[in-house]
Amino acid sequence: MSKPRILVARAIFPEVVARLAQHFEVESNPDDVIWSPQELAARLADKDGAFTTGSQRIDAALLAAAPRLKIVANMAVGYNNFDVDAMTAASVQGTNTPDVLTETTADFGFALLMATARRMAESEHYLRAGKWTTWRYDMFAGSDIHGSTLGIIGMGRIGQGVAKRGAHGFGMNVVYHNRSRLSPALEAECKARYVEKDELLRTADHVVLVLPYTPASHHTIAAAELALMKPTATLINIARGGIVDDAALAIALRERRIAAAGLDVFEGEPTVHPDLLTVPNVVLTPHIASATVPTRLAMANLAADNLIAFFDGRGPLTPVNQ
Ligand code: DGY
Repeated sequence: MSKPRILVARAIFPEVVARLAQHFEVESNPDDVIWSPQELAARLADKDGAFTTGSQRIDAALLAAAPRLKIVANMAVGYNNFDVDAMTAASVQGTNTPDVLTETTADFGFALLMATARRMAESEHYLRAGKWTTWRYDMFAGSDIHGSTLGIIGMGRIGQGVAKRGAHGFGMNVVYHNRSRLSPALEAECKARYVEKDELLRTADHVVLVLPYTPASHHTIAAAELALMKPTATLINIARGGIVDDAALAIALRERRIAAAGLDVFEGEPTVHPDLLTVPNVVLTPHIASATVPTRLAMANLAADNLIAFFDGRGPLTPVNQ
């Protein structure tokens, strides 16, 4: 019997491609060419499965051009690149990579928070530019992490990881807002108190966004929400671009309506709003929150495991549609 045909849409670890090749006929993309939607559709025309990374949109038009496609395994926990309804209507299974990146991503959220609140990027640029001539009492004075109030919007696994780091590691007072409240046991474990979004925005010294992107979460933070925040507050987005109105944020940063922001994700990435590139009080990173070698390898292996289990008839391990 011939092996199922799989398209690996982006460059991934060669050892994972080799694993897939033991089970499937694989077309891979070792040079990491960024295919247009039309090129992707053409390559999927004769494929039974696809390995994607979150930067390929899987929608009704693409599915119509891929009549054999049965599964798309995303190497990401977020799957806002999937039109899940269109996939379900076309009987295409979608999978993601939860859990394996939780702690690494929470670590990064904390790193970005600390770099932002303590102005590490700004001060490093100053030093490299040869501008450092003396000590000054207010030079790059930022805001404290320890003992401050951490507000987390989106209290899934990664949000809980950020909460635990804040509460247990830094003695922060943690408040959170989520679609649904955590159980009392989880709230106790995270030392986190549920509050309404506006209260969180008004009271938090540091606001960390860790919610999934959906039409309902589009511009969760826009001008009105930024206006509620303290002028000394920092905003961290490790969730998805589009959750923050980046144009409104750039204005708030320029006018010092909030103190600083740390952004790993952007509306329309990899394009970054030009105004964000010119304000000094923002730390910008290129969507790397889950980027450690072990975690990226675990994500790639879980996406591969999903394909292998699905075609073995065992069912997907981490399905996003049933
Ligand atoms: C994820 O897993 O969703 C990360 O954002 C990497 O894309």
